[in-house]
Amino acid sequence: MMKDKTFKVGRNDPCPCGSGLKFKKCCLDIGGVEPINLKKLYTQKYKIRFKKEQDIEGIKRAGRLVIDTLNLVEAEIRPGITTDDINTLVHEFTIQNNAIPATLSYKSYPKSVCVSVNEVICHGIPRKRVLKEGDIVNVDVTPILNGYYSDASKTFFVGTPGSEAKKIVRVARESLRRGRSMVRPENTIGDIGWAIQKYAEGEGCSVVREFVGHGVGFEFHEPPQVPHFGKKGEGIDLVPGMVFTIEPMINLGQRYLTVLEDKWTAVTKDGSLSAQFEQTILVTANGFENLTPFDL
Ligand code: MF3
Ligand code: CO
Ligand code: CO
Repeated sequence: MMKDKTFKVGRNDPCPCGSGLKFKKCCLDIGGVEPINLKKLYTQKYKIRFKKEQDIEGIKRAGRLVIDTLNLVEAEIRPGITTDDINTLVHEFTIQNNAIPATLSYKSYPKSVCVSVNEVICHGIPRKRVLKEGDIVNVDVTPILNGYYSDASKTFFVGTPGSEAKKIVRVARESLRRGRSMVRPENTIGDIGWAIQKYAEGEGCSVVREFVGHGVGFEFHEPPQVPHFGKKGEGIDLVPGMVFTIEPMINLGQRYLTVLEDKWTAVTKDGSLSAQFEQTILVTANGFENLTPFDL
């Protein structure tokens, strides 16, 4: 999703938990306080919607459909098919499974899936573009099943990849793995981005800043935002029951992007390859659970 400005509570502001005390005298200081207070703070201040057992079941079910859809697409990917063929596959399979493609009509987006080829970073609109030998293609799928959203994507090779394609897909995949491994209650949102940036830049690649991971489940894009860059310890603490995506977009060249005239398609400014993997992740008491559990 597109990054936007976040709201900060000042030390002397009234505490968002509703105690009537100043923030610094109340929840700012909670170091060891029970998660219940933190949940209240996050709900009221950051509008984070925590998921209960039954919600998690619903998101998981939608997550299984995402995986089945990605597997179906993977089996059909070959030189000669168009990005619109992928849209047809995803659209029909989603409907057959009693779900709705979340992207269709979302903020006027015209299609049922995002298909991003080579230098396209994200939000590629399916069209007549024909996939050719050596391309890489990200397919980003979000069904709504019984009211629950699950969001995941993978980058596939078309035919046999060259060395640049292999590299960027390897680094993007490992970036998600590294980010994900930071998810546990002692850590902050910033730890995720820190781990990704450190790894990806260490490999000589760059991290896109304009698009971030996001809370998901009841809606397509919920708070909090999850940047794929940043400093260790930055941002809010992770709390069990939070569900969000991690979806690093990694470029082989520089991180800068241009959005095309269709107002959606984001491409690398320098024309270099870009790859992405995305999963929907639940924070648990001792780590995380992957609600879109495909192997990375
Ligand atoms: N699935 C994308 C994400 O990961 C969002 C696509 S929104 C669309 O957040 F409108 F471009 F489809
Ligand atoms: Co997403
Ligand atoms: Co997505």
